[in-house]
Amino acid sequence: MDRQEYIEYLLDHFQNPRNRGRMEGADVQLGGGNPGCGDLITMYLKIDDDRVSEVSFEGEGCTISQAGGSIVTELIEGLTLDEIKELGTHTMKEEMGDDVVKSRVRCATLALGTVQAAIDQYRKDRTLAALSQDAKGLKVTFEN
Ligand code: FES
Repeated sequence: MDRQEYIEYLLDHFQNPRNRGRMEGADVQLGGGNPGCGDLITMYLKIDDDRVSEVSFEGEGCTISQAGGSIVTELIEGLTLDEIKELGTHTMKEEMGDDVVKSRVRCATLALGTVQAAIDQYRKDRTLAALSQDAKGLKVTFEN
């Protein structure tokens, strides 16, 4: 895509966002913000077998951050959590173009950074839940 095509692509995602809205029953949801401007995004994920089966977002902010939310939802649906963790600024450059990402990197990576933090949160919660199950099992063993 050339520069103009990237801009039209971004505007289309901003004006006609894909997968926008709150998700009931998400396995994990996380809000992220850009402290520099106060713009916000919340990412919602359903995860089956370490793979994203459903994703949505909602937020308030600049064109690039909110178009980024829409683009990221399309990008990550069906990917494994490990695959999503490997994405980065280079991915957003492919999606939005070098110029946009270079000049507005915080806006361009807000959604992706938030979804990656949501995955960390999901993994941490699962580890804690597994540990607490183990602890219950130990208690039962001990009491018997
Ligand atoms: Fe706030 Fe873009 S100006 S995220």
